Amino acid sequence: MSIARTTLRLRVPARAARAYATATKPNTAYTAVSHPDNATPEPTKAMIQEQSQYLLNTYARPPILFTQGKGCTLTDSAGREYLDFSAGIAVMALGHADAQLNKVMADQAAKLQHVSNIYWNEHAGELAKALVEGTRKAGGLGLDDTTGAKVFFANSGTEANEGALKFARKYGKDIGGESKTGIVCFNNGFHGRSMGALSVTTNPKYQAPFAPLIPDIRVGKYNDADPATIASLVDESVCGVIVEPIQGEGGIGTASPEFLTALAKRCREVGAVLIYDEIQCGLFRTGDMWAHSALPKEAHPDIVTMAKPLANGFPIGAILVRDPVAEVIGVGHHGTTFGGQPLAAALGVHVLQRLSDPAFAESLKKTAAHLDARLSALPAMFPSLLKDESRGRGLIRGIPFKNEKAPAELVRLARERGVLLLTAGSDAVRCIPSLIVTPEQCDHAVNVMESCLSLMEKDF
Ligand SMILES: Cc1ncc(COP(=O)(O)O)c(C=O)c1O
Repeated sequence: MSIARTTLRLRVPARAARAYATATKPNTAYTAVSHPDNATPEPTKAMIQEQSQYLLNTYARPPILFTQGKGCTLTDSAGREYLDFSAGIAVMALGHADAQLNKVMADQAAKLQHVSNIYWNEHAGELAKALVEGTRKAGGLGLDDTTGAKVFFANSGTEANEGALKFARKYGKDIGGESKTGIVCFNNGFHGRSMGALSVTTNPKYQAPFAPLIPDIRVGKYNDADPATIASLVDESVCGVIVEPIQGEGGIGTASPEFLTALAKRCREVGAVLIYDEIQCGLFRTGDMWAHSALPKEAHPDIVTMAKPLANGFPIGAILVRDPVAEVIGVGHHGTTFGGQPLAAALGVHVLQRLSDPAFAESLKKTAAHLDARLSALPAMFPSLLKDESRGRGLIRGIPFKNEKAPAELVRLARERGVLLLTAGSDAVRCIPSLIVTPEQCDHAVNVMESCLSLMEKDF
């Protein structure tokens, strides 16, 4: 029933799901370190040292170098296997080295990789159609049989948001004149690091060194659904409102339906474009195509931005725009060299096809329910460490802590036991595994977390 610590191979117990579903005592089988950070092989150490002389020092990384991946498992240069419960930050929806995706990539790479947006290619429009029609079918973006949407392809989440903000400005000026330029965002939001996207990412740590940022940004309180507050925040001079239905980097805060409905209503009153950033929470991570698809249509946005899993690790971003906003964007208003190139788009078509299969969503929802049952048991097991609060849904989940130093410690302890997690915001650990993760793998991740939390109890 446990990972053999001597071989460092991941053996996830096949029937752990049933065995642990009702457990009330924490699992303590993984208290011993099995994957020490400081066991880096000498050639890897030398490689890291050399590379550090050339790479800009923007990331704090442990001395681990991954050389291979398969499914939800990553292998490092020492041959140690890790359960990847972070999926490259919510990217690897179909897992690592998916055989079918590899074939699409090889076939398309051999046929045509890039032509620029000066010409048409076979797959950009195919992916755009799949996104629009998939969204219509999933009941997203307020689409019905009489309304439509269009897609602009970019290369990352940041670039998708940057474009969405530009579209909101263009729409605002077209309908309201030169002064309709205000943009509203919310505390704990994360939308990217370019000047525009950073300007609506309210974390002072990210913003302060780069100020002044773009003007006319107003910051609201996430989940404050009071109509009077929203009315003064989103006034007639506002052209766009950007918000994550589930905040990824900010700590997995989940927007209430009342908040999003009030926001959408006010946007319609003043003619502001409502942008849902679903870069981390969208594309089936919650079990539905969009985190907002399950909400009533009155809460739906005018634009959805996406990126991360769309081509399963190949860079891509996209802006899905309802027709009334799409109509104000014409030739020359926006552009990019790589966005919508045939290789990325062909991969996107394949990923979307696989994720949209009802059997896939069904299985994901079962696994998510299993993970939920395990995570929901944690606050009662560790009342001194954890807040009694459940964050996120589907396969985007947050575990909130009472002490803000604790999340990073759990991430470190779990990594040294072969499970890769992430922090989120100031107080949470984030679980965003591949969407192909199994209940047994979820059990293993939670078992390791329980073992680590047992160790942490005496220090926090
Ligand atoms: C919600 C959200 N928006 C935007 C971004 C930025 O995306 P990218 O890093 O692809 O530029 C991220 C990245 O984590 C994100 O989670």
